[in-house]
Amino acid sequence: MQTKRELIIEPIALDVEKISRPLDWRTLFGNDHPIEIEIGMGKGTFLTEQAKARPQTNFLGIEWARWFWRYASDRLRRNQCLNARTVRAEASFFLTEFVPTESIAVLHVYFPDPWPKARHHKRRLLQDKFMPVVQRILIPGGRLQVVTDHQGYFEENIEPAVRGSALTIVDYNRPGSAGEGEFVGTNFERKYRREGRPFYALAAVKQ
Ligand SMILES: C[S@@+](CC[C@H](N)C(=O)[O-])C[C@H]1O[C@@H](n2cnc3c(N)ncnc32)[C@H](O)[C@@H]1O
Repeated sequence: MQTKRELIIEPIALDVEKISRPLDWRTLFGNDHPIEIEIGMGKGTFLTEQAKARPQTNFLGIEWARWFWRYASDRLRRNQCLNARTVRAEASFFLTEFVPTESIAVLHVYFPDPWPKARHHKRRLLQDKFMPVVQRILIPGGRLQVVTDHQGYFEENIEPAVRGSALTIVDYNRPGSAGEGEFVGTNFERKYRREGRPFYALAAVKQ
């Protein structure tokens, strides 16, 4: 994955070696606006559209692939999304180590890697052991939103893990930036839609 254009990632991209642990959102963003996190933002399509549309909300994108992290950070900067920040990190680790208890209004996870081979299923992010992390970081009334194209991941892991947690499943609401007929409007959704794949969406709230 190469680009000829220079990517400028400051001031959007954070260095995990230099930020406070746990994070202090007020210091980071300079305000007390609600915080939403997207795990695995890829090229940052959803995050950029949301950050532009909702300047009264702060967004954090977590991405462990360096090139995507840099691309999304540059894209957010070009769109002057100063209400957004990004980190290059593994999401479970980052949420556990850096995100304060009851501080997140919405956790977005769109098209998480499905790890289709049976011997790799244990690497799936959304499974029982991840749910205590989600429950801890969401504020009361906070929301988890997930969309995947992978039926097996959805039926074997995502739905049972959420049903077995303290969260309550609610209707999935498409974000305003989703296009006609889209669940969320990410790069992967657009690619998979062209391939005619089905989608599985779930939303749940912390009471
Ligand atoms: C299939 S892509 C989807 C990207 C984007 N959400 C979309 O829909 O276009 C999954 C992305 O999540 C990232 N990712 C997967 N597992 C992750 C983890 N545990 N922590 C951080 N990023 C992760 C991958 O690097 C990849 O960019």
